Amino acid sequence: MNRLWVLPDVASAARAVLARLVDLADEARAQRGRFALAVSGGQTPEPLFRALASRGTGEDAWSGWHIFWSDERAVPPTDPRSNFGEAGRLWLGPAAVPDGQVHPIRTDGPGIDAMARTYEAELREFFPGPPGAATFDAVLLGVGPDGHTASLFPGSPTLEAGGRWVVAEPRPAVPPLVPRVSLTLDAIGRARVVLFLVGGTAKREVLARVFADPNRGGPRAALPAARVQALDAVEWYVDRGAAPPGPAGVAPTRR
Ligand code: 6PG
Repeated sequence: MNRLWVLPDVASAARAVLARLVDLADEARAQRGRFALAVSGGQTPEPLFRALASRGTGEDAWSGWHIFWSDERAVPPTDPRSNFGEAGRLWLGPAAVPDGQVHPIRTDGPGIDAMARTYEAELREFFPGPPGAATFDAVLLGVGPDGHTASLFPGSPTLEAGGRWVVAEPRPAVPPLVPRVSLTLDAIGRARVVLFLVGGTAKREVLARVFADPNRGGPRAALPAARVQALDAVEWYVDRGAAPPGPAGVAPTRR
């Protein structure tokens, strides 16, 4: 199921995503005792990370939450381009999320292929279910102006990484032009819910292409972001600047 909500600005879109993540977390912890969330990087999630930090601190506030990444740049966590470093500065550190619940893509390995294999092994250990079983409860993604998502770029062989959960991308198509490690479409597709957070007029044209694609949500869609599937729902939270033409719902925001 695909759902689109258009919010006045990216801050309100981030608040809507926060409300949805908290609901998904409450549901997952009640049913399975934990909430597995993979987050992306870039600028768009910054207001969301700050809003998450304001929820509370320490074990009580984050009981059962396990944080993963959809992708990472092959740089140290202290590098300003690090997705783990970004989430750590804005959310995980200020909110004192317990280290044992934070599962970054390690970038201190001998190369990006080894980094990808190491992360995949960690994921398969954390999600030991049978083939096709659900993994993440939620995956948060963004969209680049070229239609990439995570670090899956148009035309890259990483889009056809059948069976793999994590791949290395040595030649990203957009800055930062550092090698990447990324979840595959297969891995993302095993999430219960995928949430896209997109803002700004710079994304309007690419979102119009994604939403106009008759093959959206399947392997024949033109752009990586359009190929994303999920077990239960793919939900789009976009601001008016990025909104594609056509009908949209009103996001459920309680906070
Ligand atoms: C990354 C992200 C990437 C991002 C898009 C949008 O590591 O760069 O995971 O997929 O979501 O590039 O980035 P902005 O939010 O900065 O526009």
